[in-house]
Amino acid sequence: MTFGIYFHVPFCRSKCYYCGFYSITNLSLQDDYINALLKEIYNKKILIYELSKKYKKITIFLGGGTPTLLKLKNLEKILNSIKDFMDKVIEFTIEANPESVTKEKIEIYRSFGINRISIGIQSFDDDVLSFLGRPHRLKDSLKALEIAKKYFDNISIDLLGGIPNFKNTSETSEKYIIEFKPKHISFYNLSKDKKNIWSKKIRIDDSKQTEDYINFCDLLKNLDYEHYEISNFSFKGYQCKHNINYWQRGEYIGFGPSAVSFLKKILNNKDIRYKNISNLISYIENPLKAKREIITEDKALWETIFLNLRRKKGLSKRLLYKTNNQTKTEKIIERINYLTKNNILRENKNYWYIPEKNFLISNEILLWILKDM
Ligand SMILES: C[S@@+](CC[C@H](N)C(=O)[O-])C[C@H]1O[C@@H](n2cnc3c(N)ncnc32)[C@H](O)[C@@H]1O
Ligand code: SF4
Repeated sequence: MTFGIYFHVPFCRSKCYYCGFYSITNLSLQDDYINALLKEIYNKKILIYELSKKYKKITIFLGGGTPTLLKLKNLEKILNSIKDFMDKVIEFTIEANPESVTKEKIEIYRSFGINRISIGIQSFDDDVLSFLGRPHRLKDSLKALEIAKKYFDNISIDLLGGIPNFKNTSETSEKYIIEFKPKHISFYNLSKDKKNIWSKKIRIDDSKQTEDYINFCDLLKNLDYEHYEISNFSFKGYQCKHNINYWQRGEYIGFGPSAVSFLKKILNNKDIRYKNISNLISYIENPLKAKREIITEDKALWETIFLNLRRKKGLSKRLLYKTNNQTKTEKIIERINYLTKNNILRENKNYWYIPEKNFLISNEILLWILKDM
């Protein structure tokens, strides 16, 4: 088992039209952010120690926002603050925006022990990038991939699909995926963020999203990628360990504004989720301010099913039998058995799983299993 450490870097050069993640464009606050982040880490040091004793392995994810906007002296400060744990780190990812990747930065990331880079390509089509309000273009993506491949074996790229009125992602990305063969690819159909004004103006076309997803899955299958989670594909041995821990409801600590932590059996034997404040000024004033959510047994059961059935491997039967809510669990198993008999779900000795051909209707399947739960 592993536990995860997440750092949220809340800065972006500009705000992409569709984005609902917390970030701001006032880069002058970076040093204040770092001071607050170091305070938060210092305060939670004992917790990291305890978790690092409990688990043999750690994954780290520097996400955002745009972590590649961090000044190197600031990145060094973050890494210095956790250096005691580095010998347990088995995967260390940095999220990178193509336009802010340089050879000098990448060399230093590598020397700091970062061993995985996740590049936000989003699209290999300049028209799509312009429609989405991205600050980069195809030439920046190609340059970033060229530099990254010299230093990193484990490269992931993020792509967005289902963009209304544009070509399918498989069409615009095939050539580049064949050329660069990233070890890992995340593919998300564009979704609307309720608070986002731009999203209100666009119409998501479900059939377009379905077609884009199916074509993309076919393309990656032909290129020998394993479709190991609804939105994630990788070559063998390159699944994202940090995210697998999230999907298995493993423990993690998130640092920085809007970051989430999940700790098991700490308050009256209950699991707790903490969400840091999504406002940098307030975070700088008090980096320990967070909303606490106690995860009830019902919610834990719901999360276990929801997260595990999104994975190709599926939901462990042993894990489900182990849950405490007998009545609800029996009802859920009844529904799962019904779906399995009707070939919507499949099973092997230890797991129930959604076959890849039904990934597309996974939301409907999950909602049906979890109805009134
Ligand atoms: C934290 S975000 C952005 C990371 C990085 N700053 C970037 O822009 O590449 C991580 C990923 O979520 C996905 N994402 C963000 N907003 C989305 C939306 N509205 N719909 C679907 N996927 C989205 C994008 O693919 C993005 O790469
Ligand atoms: S660069 Fe990434 S995090 Fe920043 S606004 Fe764009 S999508 Fe959001």
